[in-house]
Amino acid sequence: MHLYGTQQINELGHLTIGGVDTIELAKQYGTPLFVYDTALIRKRSRGFIDTFEQLGVKAQVAYASKAFACVAAYQLAAQENLSLDVVSGGELYTAIKAGFPADRIHFHGNNKSIAELELAFETGIGCIVVDNFYEISLIKEIAQQKTQKMKILLRVTPGVEAHTHDFITTGQADSKFGFDLNNGQADEAFKQVVNDEHIELLGLHCHIGSQIFETEGFSLAAGKVMQKMGAWKEQHGFVAQVLNLGGGFGIRYTEEDKPLEPHEYVADMIRTVQDESKKLNLAMPEIWIEPGRSLVGDAGTSLYTIGSQKTVPNVRDYIAVDGGMSDNIRPALYDAKYEAIIANKANDPKTSTYTVAGKLCESGDKLIIDASLQNAHTGDILAMFCTGAYGYSMASNYNRVPRPAVVFVENGEHQLAIKRESYEDLVVNDLPLTLTKGE
Ligand code: LLP
Repeated sequence: MHLYGTQQINELGHLTIGGVDTIELAKQYGTPLFVYDTALIRKRSRGFIDTFEQLGVKAQVAYASKAFACVAAYQLAAQENLSLDVVSGGELYTAIKAGFPADRIHFHGNNKSIAELELAFETGIGCIVVDNFYEISLIKEIAQQKTQKMKILLRVTPGVEAHTHDFITTGQADSKFGFDLNNGQADEAFKQVVNDEHIELLGLHCHIGSQIFETEGFSLAAGKVMQKMGAWKEQHGFVAQVLNLGGGFGIRYTEEDKPLEPHEYVADMIRTVQDESKKLNLAMPEIWIEPGRSLVGDAGTSLYTIGSQKTVPNVRDYIAVDGGMSDNIRPALYDAKYEAIIANKANDPKTSTYTVAGKLCESGDKLIIDASLQNAHTGDILAMFCTGAYGYSMASNYNRVPRPAVVFVENGEHQLAIKRESYEDLVVNDLPLTLTKGE
């Protein structure tokens, strides 16, 4: 059995995280419950930051907070000296509420609204990652009105797409994000911003994909973006200060996944940028990265209570839990694979095979197909590993199921980070019918 971070099995045979018994957590806070091992988040953060420091490379490690966003998570990121990638007014607002230093916030998105961009100016964020021509015109307008200057990166698509072990290079990247490096759009965007009095162009950004286990894709993309920087220096005398290579570093969900360590991803990336800088006679830019999943993914564990069971003779045994696709859409949406244990019988051998069904009204609401598990009974607590990224953040109220609570644990202590939604919360924005029935 693979345990993550500070997870252990105690003398009662219970799974513990951060020195806290998960069965006690389930009792105190109820289930479904997300439990975050904050020491593991700190360790992962330092893994990235320390590598840049040890290699003497100026960097920013920006937490891609779409993976999991809440006030306490932003405060943890601030404690660990991370920067922040936000992708909406809502994430930006939450970060500011959390007291996150605005100058380390980077604002992403392919369709930022005027109100969102105004909020970015008003809160004084570190930079906007500009995605398209419409956004350039909006930023110019707002900057002029506010007589404020904004730092930006231009997001480009380098024609490298990576997914897990495969990466492909395409001449013309078909992406809803960014300016194409190869078809003249990036050059046009550059021209529109480089001499604008209200805009300071820091450099370029690219993001090639998610859950990536190899370094080649990052190197390939870095090389292509650096070449564009080289061309702009030669043709226009522009010196880029920043190269942002995005996120996408893979994690272990199941035994099939073999991720690299943070320092391996980063060291390789740095080498490529250093080599290209020399070749192109460019000053070494700061390297910014945006890990989301690899900072919080394996630090999150979902606890569920097992309710009904069903045997389909000669087909499979089901166990049903008190959550499902409303708190983790990834299995239904991406066919994502997870591992689990029965947390109150963690020392028992895994002699049974169950399909873990959620409680939502949809046949596809299955969290794990054919999970190898300890013998399960109603009332047992199922711990599903590695649900820290894109679990809570993609949760919904489908079937009017309230969203779970989130608890942080560390050094034997625990604290509520997000309260469980109540039925009252579910109707708080609902209004009674006032239209009259026609005759
Ligand atoms: N930077 C940019 C520009 C991104 O688009 C993303 C993720 C990241 C950073 C962070 O990527 P990460 O390190 O977390 O892989 N909902 C999907 C993942 C969507 C990722 C979207 N962009 C999932 O559950 O697998």
